[in-house]
Amino acid sequence: METFPEQTPPSIDYAQPLLEHNQLATSYAIQTQDLVQNFGQKVAVNHLNLSVRPGEFFGFLGPNGAGKSTSIKMMVGLLRPTSGKVYVGGVDVWQDPLRARALMGVLPEHLNLYERLTGREFITFAGHMYGVPAADVTRRTEELLRVLDLADDAEKMIVDYSVGMRKKVALAAAILHRPQVIFLDEPFEGIDPVSSRVIRDILQDLTRRGTTIFFSSHIMAVVERLCTRVGIINQGVLVAEGTLQELRERASGEDKDATLEDVFLNVIGVRNENHNLSWLE
Ligand SMILES: Nc1ncnc2c1ncn2[C@@H]1O[C@H](COP(=O)(O)OP(=O)(O)OP(=O)(O)O)[C@@H](O)[C@H]1O
Ligand SMILES: [Mg+2]
Repeated sequence: METFPEQTPPSIDYAQPLLEHNQLATSYAIQTQDLVQNFGQKVAVNHLNLSVRPGEFFGFLGPNGAGKSTSIKMMVGLLRPTSGKVYVGGVDVWQDPLRARALMGVLPEHLNLYERLTGREFITFAGHMYGVPAADVTRRTEELLRVLDLADDAEKMIVDYSVGMRKKVALAAAILHRPQVIFLDEPFEGIDPVSSRVIRDILQDLTRRGTTIFFSSHIMAVVERLCTRVGIINQGVLVAEGTLQELRERASGEDKDATLEDVFLNVIGVRNENHNLSWLE
């Protein structure tokens, strides 16, 4: 099926060394330098400094409203930072956005999908947009539809998809061009356990092959299982960062059995307050 005309691939040489632009960011897949986002008086992201190496599986945690999605939007070129820098594969995302975007796959918080396309058409379209050769687009699309359990609904328009199906089709579109760095904003929320397992396996396989993954999540068990390193943001400030082991040692002292949830609650300063609702008594 060729619903879309052949597109001229963007004039980007994927084989070229990617790190020539910035010697500072050379060894990092992702680097943010003093990244700030203000919304009026609100400081949503406050001088975020993060460095993620190639092949890392980085989990970004934080309570609701902490600044995770805002940070990711600035990293992928969707929201211009108030100040600060972001480099992906050594490319300055805001100086050289086209080149940076060609290196990334993005699953954003709010999925902006073409509702009138079918799932198959949407994934195919994404592949062509990234300049993937047509034969590869077809093969990869069919494979993704199959493993993500979307094959039976491939002819259905996205407007008629469920929440989880929309997320899976967006995920397929984000990884089909085999990007070097993948940003995923809450990829597992709304996904059933079977597909969740499939997605985990795909993402782990990608990192084994050198892809870098940066994702936000509230699902501690998934983060614990997948991540090589974790960052915790609270009220726009990065309050902890390291391997799970390092975070456990720092946040919980002697407690070697502390779970990531224990560490998280400890780091963001949650106390055992009374959460009862008075009007239920
Ligand atoms: N466009 C905007 N205009 C004004 N304030 C915004 C805007 N986008 C985000 N904010 C504010 O910035 C803060 C961080 O929001 P953000 O969406 O980054 O949080 P989050 O960590 O992704 O939360 P969640 O876990 O609920 O997704 C919040 O206080 C939010 O209200
Ligand atoms: Mg968010």
